[in-house]
Amino acid sequence: MSEPKSYEITPEHIYLSRRKFMVGIGALALSSLAVAACGPVSVPQGQVKVDETGEVTVSEATDDLGDRPTSYTAVTGYNNYYEFTTSKEKVAGLARDFVTTPWTLSVGGLVSNPKTYDIDDLRKRFNIQERVYRLRCVEGWSMVIPWQGFVLAELLKEVEPTSKAKYVRFETVYRPEQMPGQKGGWFEWPYVEGLRLDEAMHDLTLMATGLYGKDLPPQNGAPVRLVVPWKYGFKSIKSIVKIDLVDEMPLTFWMKAAPNEYGFYANVNPDVPHPRWSQKSERRIGENGRRRTLKFNGYEKEVAYLYEGMDLRVNF
Ligand code: MTE
Repeated sequence: MSEPKSYEITPEHIYLSRRKFMVGIGALALSSLAVAACGPVSVPQGQVKVDETGEVTVSEATDDLGDRPTSYTAVTGYNNYYEFTTSKEKVAGLARDFVTTPWTLSVGGLVSNPKTYDIDDLRKRFNIQERVYRLRCVEGWSMVIPWQGFVLAELLKEVEPTSKAKYVRFETVYRPEQMPGQKGGWFEWPYVEGLRLDEAMHDLTLMATGLYGKDLPPQNGAPVRLVVPWKYGFKSIKSIVKIDLVDEMPLTFWMKAAPNEYGFYANVNPDVPHPRWSQKSERRIGENGRRRTLKFNGYEKEVAYLYEGMDLRVNF
């Protein structure tokens, strides 16, 4: 299988109608971070270095399988962020002036203690940890990214979900004046994602505020985004302004855009092909050839229990 082009992840009917009727779419040191003990899935802490070519590296950092991080240049230069553009290489340029301060994140819905956090508040209040995770995009490519962030469960505990809360709904900022992709009428903005409450409470589920020891760049979802490493990358919603605890499964951005292609769970699964391509292998950015895709993106040990008794094909 060759990797799908960026237009191929776009639901076919939208891509085709867009092609017919539209012309384009809207056209340090890490060692100084206070790192908490982060349990069994923590990773060795690296130190950020810049070499003579300007490339940023994290010394000694690897993911839990021993894989080194993807280059800083690729992590910050090859992005999916449809609010700006569907062209991966153009996101960084278009997002350069995206305003991320001031920024507030409101957390409410079925909770006893709703809160609105300022971004600095989030950084100070919760334990910022380093986690080196694999990111597997549904399109068939992957990266290894050294994130800094806090475990979402810490925040959820603080707002006290009520017994009625079953799911968590996340929403990206809606700001068409700064996000040219949001001016196109083909998608329903804002971008929305969701997790079951137990998935959201899992220790691997991270709210990232940085990568490679620096604040998140706009193209990677500044100032705060979700990272759910065992699910396809589209679940890891960027630039979050609102989190709601709800009692029904949220209808997500991709479920609305292409219900036959993208589901709620979206756990990485080599045995369930995308309707238009296989998911058996992936291209690790920066490597030649392809790697075998791992069930739950290699986090099966940690998360398989969440889905016991469920037919994972039905629940794509
Ligand atoms: N979040 C929003 N708001 N908009 C998007 O277009 N793309 C998703 C996800 N989060 C997306 C998003 C997809 S498809 C992927 S693969 C990852 O972000 C890519 O994250 P990265 O650019 O930091 O590698």
